[in-house]
Amino acid sequence: MPQFARLTALPSPVRSPSDSPWPLASTVSDRARGPLPHGSPGEVLLRAQQVLGEARVPATGVGESAALDLIAGLLAESGIDLSHPHAAAHLQPPVLQVAVDADALASASNASMDTYDSGPATLAIEQWVVKALAGLGGFGPEADGVLTPGGSISNLLAVLIARDSAAAAAGVDVRRNGLQGLDQPVVFCSELAHFSVQRACAALGLGEQAAITIASDEDFRMRTDVLEDELAKPGRTPVAVVATAGTTDYGSIDPIAEIAALARQYGAWMHVDAAYGFGALFSDQLAPLLAELPHADSVTLDLHKIGWQPAATSVLLVADRNRFASFGRSVDYLNPADDIDSGLDGLLGRSLQTTRRPDAVKVATTLRAYGRAGLGKMLDTCHELAHAAAARVVADSNLELLAPVTLTTVLFRVAGQGLEAAEVDGLQGEVRRRLLTSGRVLIGRTKLPARGGRPAAVALKLTLLNPNATASDIEDLLDQVVATGLDVRAESGEGAA
Ligand SMILES: Cc1ncc(COP(=O)(O)O)c(C=O)c1O
Repeated sequence: MPQFARLTALPSPVRSPSDSPWPLASTVSDRARGPLPHGSPGEVLLRAQQVLGEARVPATGVGESAALDLIAGLLAESGIDLSHPHAAAHLQPPVLQVAVDADALASASNASMDTYDSGPATLAIEQWVVKALAGLGGFGPEADGVLTPGGSISNLLAVLIARDSAAAAAGVDVRRNGLQGLDQPVVFCSELAHFSVQRACAALGLGEQAAITIASDEDFRMRTDVLEDELAKPGRTPVAVVATAGTTDYGSIDPIAEIAALARQYGAWMHVDAAYGFGALFSDQLAPLLAELPHADSVTLDLHKIGWQPAATSVLLVADRNRFASFGRSVDYLNPADDIDSGLDGLLGRSLQTTRRPDAVKVATTLRAYGRAGLGKMLDTCHELAHAAAARVVADSNLELLAPVTLTTVLFRVAGQGLEAAEVDGLQGEVRRRLLTSGRVLIGRTKLPARGGRPAAVALKLTLLNPNATASDIEDLLDQVVATGLDVRAESGEGAA
């Protein structure tokens, strides 16, 4: 017990103000400060150098308290404050205090998931978490899963399993002999899928060009007619179809059941990247969006997005646990057969990692603390904020809404009013940078693909994942976007005159 008292007595993280409905952690206690420090990257670098000293291993130490104070001070002054209501750039939420406390426990255990004797209790916790999440996703008892260091890695592992499965069907032992003998392996995903699908193809020796992107419809969902045409093309081995349940920018959800039927027809693995969207299952209101999830062979989900967990808390779920055979490995010093026969087995065979953090500890603690209802309420609050933000954008002639709200993102732009298309794009980038370096407001930007005669366009994006933010916080944020937009527009008008 004394050690635990010590862990929670660390100078950071700082608890959120006691009047906030949800206890979120932050390393920044100055509520008047914006989500980012005011100033340039050079200034932050200089401050870090002052705090840390010359970049070499110090000959002697300053002591534990002094060192912690130094780092806590740097994070307080120059770090990000995701619990600030004007932090709305990425799928990087503020984190629940309870998850941070539990993560400190996990670190203190220094357990690993690979062998039984590296952490018996944490192994049991991971298995509980995976089963609970598989059940939430609608999967049966034969499903299983593994915690991974991020959605990109979960997608990589899924494509790896799919590749091995397609190779085995073609009589190729890819693990032993490589890809030789596999005829043009390809992976299909929508044009709005996360780029980690392409990276997975590159890393697995398929090449980025193996990722065939399918056009999306007016609702930003994969077009199954185009997918069917592509699947029917001869001379290729369809390895996997990757549907996205919650595209990074739009939150749109591909038609999972239809895609799964096509994937089965052509013998391809069906993976759903629900890194962003899986958390919808916590909410009664939004869960129907993911009702078709059980059609998948595997699912990526990230609780460091909707789930309010510190990174990394990704999970790869597999509908049939036997498919983890791709990672099976017998290693004399870790999992000898006679130990396994005695029940002393770990989870080495679920992953490419050997040492693997007990990231499930914070998840189990959070699920026990809040239950589905608590997390669902957090999501519903963020979803309502997104609708309020969209309504405000529509009502403001200086702003344009670019897509409807599905989950918690709002895509919009500052109106160009007479500017050329390239200037309107430039305006968005400049507005975001000015707000970011002021430290007051942090919003995202992205580029929307061309559609319906409109060219590709730079957009601004709100990713609303702070349930402590209020509609008036978001009003204020958008006021600042508009004011900055008017400034930039006026300056470019003066420049042109
Ligand atoms: C749909 C989707 N998949 C995968 C990822 C990658 O997740 P991570 O950043 O955890 O690797 C993201 C990240 O935003 C995402 O939006």
